[in-house]
Amino acid sequence: MQAIMQASYQGIDALKLITQSVASLNPMAARVETRYTPVMPYDILTETGQLQRLRPVKLPRVVGYGFGGIVREVGRLRPSRLLNQPVIGIHLSGSHQEQILSMLPPFLFTVPAGVSLADATTLIGGADAAYFALKQSRLQPNETVLVTGANGSVGTYLLQLLHLFGYHSLAVGHTSRHDLLTTLGAEQIVDYDRPLVQQKVNFAAVSHVVDLAGSPALLDRLTAKLGPVRILSLALQDYRPHPHQTFTFASGAITPRDYRWLLTQLAEQNLRAIVQEKLPFTAIKTAQHHLLDHHAAGRILVTYNQEV
Ligand SMILES: NC(=O)c1ccc[n+]([C@@H]2O[C@H](COP(=O)([O-])OP(=O)(O)OC[C@H]3O[C@@H](n4cnc5c(N)ncnc54)[C@H](OP(=O)(O)O)[C@@H]3O)[C@@H](O)[C@H]2O)c1
Repeated sequence: MQAIMQASYQGIDALKLITQSVASLNPMAARVETRYTPVMPYDILTETGQLQRLRPVKLPRVVGYGFGGIVREVGRLRPSRLLNQPVIGIHLSGSHQEQILSMLPPFLFTVPAGVSLADATTLIGGADAAYFALKQSRLQPNETVLVTGANGSVGTYLLQLLHLFGYHSLAVGHTSRHDLLTTLGAEQIVDYDRPLVQQKVNFAAVSHVVDLAGSPALLDRLTAKLGPVRILSLALQDYRPHPHQTFTFASGAITPRDYRWLLTQLAEQNLRAIVQEKLPFTAIKTAQHHLLDHHAAGRILVTYNQEV
C-alpha cells in the first residue's frame, strides 16, 4: 500500500510516496479503501512547519486527515452493516494513503444515497469549518456577513450556509470567480483584484466579517470601509483591528450530528459541493501546488483505487 509521507519541514516538493504494509485489523477498526482525500492548506502549512506552535506534529507522518472511501473489513466491535458502504471520515494520524484503518467510530459517516463520494469528501475541512464559523459568529436575523476567501473550499460552503439560514452575504473573491460566487448565493461581491472605489457595494450593512483569506493587507483595505464589525478569522491568529472593531481567531470542530446534518443537506440538494479538480494521489505535489498557485474554485481532491 502506498502513502504520502512528510519527513521534513521542507515543503511540498519534499513529500515522498512510500510503500508500507497495511496495519492488521483490530476489534475497533474499520478498514477503508480510500477513494478521495481533500487537499488542504492545513497540509501545506504543516509541511512547512508554520503550524508547529498551534498543532505540533511528529515526523515522519502521513499527510492529511480527511478521507472518503469504501469500508472493506470491520472488526468485531464495529457494525457489519458498514461493509461495502461509502463513508467519509477523519483519520488524525494521516489520510493520504490507499488503505485507512479507521479507529474513530464517531467520525466515520455513511454517505447517503444520491450523494457522490467525491462530493461528500469535500465536507471534511470545508463545510465543517464553514458551519463551525457560522456557529461561532452567533448572528442575529438579517445580519450581513462579509466573507474573504469566499471562492475557496470553506468559503464556497459558508456562502451557501449563510443563504440557507437567511443571512445576507458580501463575498470577496478574485474576478475570475465572480460568476461562481453569484451561483452560490452571494448577494454582493467584491473583486479583491479591482479597486474598491470602482465597485458599487453597500459596506454599511456589514456587521460581521469571516476571514478565510488570512491576508492582513486585504483586511486593512476592507475594514477601513466598515463600521464596528466583529471579525472572526479561521486563517489569521493575530490581527490588529481598528479601535471600534473586534478580532477573534477560532479553530475548532463540529459534532458528529453536525456532519450527519451536512450530509443530509447534500442529499436534499440544499448544499452543493464545488470540486475544483481531481488528480491521482501520485500527483500530490502538483495538486498542492495548484492549491497555492491557482485561484480557488472549491476543493481539490486526490484520488485512489479508482481503477477497481
Ligand atoms: N481554524 C480552523 O478551524 C480552520 C479550518 C479549516 C480551514 N482553516 C483555514 O481557513 C482558510 C481557508 O481554507 P480553505 O480550505 O477554504 O482554503 P482555500 O480553498 O485555499 O481558499 C483560500 C481563499 O483565500 C483567498 N486568498 C488567499 N490569500 C489571499 C489574498 N492575499 N487576497 C485575497 N484573497 C486571498 C484565496 O483566493 P484565490 O482563490 O484568489 O487564490 C482563496 O479563495 C485557510 O487559511 C485554512 O487553513 C481553518
